[in-house]
Amino acid sequence: MDIRIAVLGGDGIGPEVTAESVKILDAIERRFDHTFSFVMGACGGRAIDEFGTPLPEETLDIVKGCDAVLFGAVGGPKWDDPQAETRPEDGILTLRKDLDLFANLRPVKVYPQLIDASPLRPERLVGVDMVIVRELTSGLYFGKPKKRWANSRGRSAVDTLTYREREVERVARVGFEIARGRRKRLHSLDKMNVLETGRLWREIVTELGVEYPDVELIHMLADNAAMQLVTNPAEFDVVVTENTFGDILSDEAAVIGGSMGMLPSASLSSIPKSNNTNRRPRRAGKRALYEPIHGSAPDIAGQGVANPIASILSTAMMLRYSFALDDEADAIESAVAAVLVDGARTPDLATQPGEAIGTSDMGDAIAGRIIG
Ligand code: NAD
Ligand code: IPM
Ligand code: MN
Repeated sequence: MDIRIAVLGGDGIGPEVTAESVKILDAIERRFDHTFSFVMGACGGRAIDEFGTPLPEETLDIVKGCDAVLFGAVGGPKWDDPQAETRPEDGILTLRKDLDLFANLRPVKVYPQLIDASPLRPERLVGVDMVIVRELTSGLYFGKPKKRWANSRGRSAVDTLTYREREVERVARVGFEIARGRRKRLHSLDKMNVLETGRLWREIVTELGVEYPDVELIHMLADNAAMQLVTNPAEFDVVVTENTFGDILSDEAAVIGGSMGMLPSASLSSIPKSNNTNRRPRRAGKRALYEPIHGSAPDIAGQGVANPIASILSTAMMLRYSFALDDEADAIESAVAAVLVDGARTPDLATQPGEAIGTSDMGDAIAGRIIG
């Protein structure tokens, strides 16, 4: 296959980790019969500095001309002035909205070798394997009005939480479909005890559940879920929730996996269909973006110590969801597992003094395992 990938590294550790993903795709190209070409685009704070906007037209053109987007991270203290007209984060938010990437899949898994890297008790981590399906193009992030103002009574601001029926239905369907191909349990999280949007969410998910009698549907209030996630994480199979809850709960879930540097994601614009004979959904269509769940990590940027595994596993998701290259995705995921068994650890994963390796060495180790 000839595949064109837009690589938007962004800010901070973003470009450091996407460089390792490109290295991994080069290794895949050597082992399998594919040609990957990479087109680099500017996004985020560095694009604001260079072009005056976090998502220049040139970058949008690159994205439109490619088969999938590999995204790093955007943002950083340099662009954090609360009065700024535009922010780096607007770049990724606009991309998500423009490409209609409404379903963000965030798998959370525990590698046995990393159990010690998590602050949670080891016995709680046994058997953890879940996918958080986060709604990504609506809710508080995009609702209008969204603004600040000042008058004689002082300063005010408003963000608006809205959901339309079709927005809830399509992301819930993603949750059901994925659950159907896995352990057939779907937790739907909301705040129906407080929010109108939560009540709408629960009603629509319940109605849709009739189409999926084989999937056990469990409604849970999002605050309770925050607690259950770290006390009984193995209870969860697929979790579906709205944009803001999904953002916060997936960072929390990174604690289960041992580090922010371990959690990948896929943002899709179509519903992956379950397939009961094999756990994988079919091709995702052209509009799709793959990124780690972590940010630009300004505290460690430029030091060559970031963990590239979240980006590398996002690349595996790209091969699986965008191109149906399951063997190639398996090869990446097995290589990651193998280097962890070998003892490769970036500083975020290291438990022994002196054992840590850098970003590039971790990428080399994984690429080496792929080439064999
Ligand atoms: P962060 O995810 O960047 O970092 C949180 C903590 O996790 C830091 O201590 C960091 O060092 C650590 N960490 C994150 N990724 C790591 C990795 N790969 N390897 C090792 N350690 C890692 O969150 P933050 O500090 O709250 O945000 C920093 C900036 O990133 C903000 O401007 C935020 O808006 C932005 N951000 C961007 C994205 C994105 O572009 N998709 C996602 C999240 C945050
Ligand atoms: C994420 C990030 C983003 C979000 C920011 C950078 C806009 O935290 O991808 O989880 O809040 O969605
Ligand atoms: Mn986040």
